Amino acid sequence: MHNQTLTITDNRTEKSYSLPIQDGTIRAMDLRQIKENADDFGLMTYDPAFMNTASCRSGITYIDGDKGILRYRGYPIEELAEKCTFLEVAYLILNGELPTAAQLKDWIQLVTYHTMIHETTKHFLEGFRYNAHPMGMLVSTVAALSTVYPEATNVLDPENRKLQIVRLIAKMPTIAAYTYRHSLGFPYIYPDNELGYTANFMNMLWKMAEPKYAANPVLARALDILFILHADHEQNCSTNAMRAVGSSQADPYLSTAAAAAALSGPLHGGANEQVLRMLDQIGSKDRIPEYIEHVKAGKVKLMGFGHRVYKNYDPRARIIKWTAEQVFQVTGRNPRLDMALELEKIALEDEYFVKRKLYPNVDFYSGIIYQAMGFDPKMFTVLFAIPRTVGWLSQWDELMRDAEQKIARPRQIFTGPAERHLPAGKTLGVAAVA
Ligand code: SDX
Repeated sequence: MHNQTLTITDNRTEKSYSLPIQDGTIRAMDLRQIKENADDFGLMTYDPAFMNTASCRSGITYIDGDKGILRYRGYPIEELAEKCTFLEVAYLILNGELPTAAQLKDWIQLVTYHTMIHETTKHFLEGFRYNAHPMGMLVSTVAALSTVYPEATNVLDPENRKLQIVRLIAKMPTIAAYTYRHSLGFPYIYPDNELGYTANFMNMLWKMAEPKYAANPVLARALDILFILHADHEQNCSTNAMRAVGSSQADPYLSTAAAAAALSGPLHGGANEQVLRMLDQIGSKDRIPEYIEHVKAGKVKLMGFGHRVYKNYDPRARIIKWTAEQVFQVTGRNPRLDMALELEKIALEDEYFVKRKLYPNVDFYSGIIYQAMGFDPKMFTVLFAIPRTVGWLSQWDELMRDAEQKIARPRQIFTGPAERHLPAGKTLGVAAVA
């Protein structure tokens, strides 16, 4: 075993420092001892967008971007998507191990028990304009839940955290469905506790006058798989938001609302909605080359392509493509899939994308399935937020248990003016500059 240290020589002072290397990192605080003058602050690292900075230790999700590997608690995503239900995977992500039959039964009952939202929260939703974007409604309503459960501020109590975690996982589909029903002017459908997690979600979305909603099992299973694929993804932008807000000991509802707000951005979870808009804008296969040229000229991005970590095919995109074929056997083929496949084919053969290692990510195909299932593109990111709530809350719980963690408070490189003073004649109410 080689000496696990990094020796740094500061050429300003010709002093050398030996910093320990642990888990492939050096601690940024170990750099502070490196000073040119005794009263210097000491060296910091400068890492906009955290391109090369580990912010935490986490045992939840492992990604190897070069090899296109994604595992939840050590299990490959391909195995989990094929052989588990979403609630099984949610239990795994939250607890670190897959549930026994008895544990799964109790877990399902617990989540099912908490699917309803308070009637005042339902009325809160009714206050939105008819054309309010569902993500704006979701973020606001999740934040509003903090007023329904004031005890949630007791974030240091593990049992209290567990109750709020179950409430949020259980209520996300209900709130999501209500945003959808609101946008259509349809009455809200209450949860049906005889149905599974995704079948009940479909019930609250699509039940009309029939006495009992019958979910198509192929579509229910497809949603289950899509939820598994979206459940967690280590320190992505929205999880970083969850951890940053949660580090101030804000309650989990407000932290989850902040995470959902981050997810809504078009560079993150909002990309799935933008992919459909991009495909509609391209319009037909024969116009793909022209669009690709616009992308290469830097005028537009190829939405659903590229990833900060994956420099190979996103394993989730591959599973989503397979799932699309299952869904289309029920819904009929979405013609946009053929355009997306052609776009992928052309892009993956083009030097611009090959050189930058740009591959389809999880958002490239998911929207095509959702649209085939009858969702409006405005709902796509809401569909991402439902399962990702499991990841956000698992990461938050891990944060609250981590003795190394404190309130997140980065430093900066100051680029503003040095000290200066107001003009001598400046008085209250008189502008400083004529
Ligand atoms: C998600 O982090 C996660 O894990 C996220 C996620 C999760 O599960 O939580 O996986 C979910 O957010 C998936 C990503 C969805 N977003 C999109 O599909 C939007 C389009 N993608 C890009 O905006 C971009 O690829 C990002 C935001 C995903 C990643 O951006 P990076 O890592 O900051 O890379 P970059 O912008 O520095 O790009 C590097 C180069 C640049 O070219 P050059 O300046 O070197 O010439 O690649 C180019 C970029 O212009 N590039 C693209 C591109 N993505 C990157 N060019 C065209 N189209 C794109 N989509």
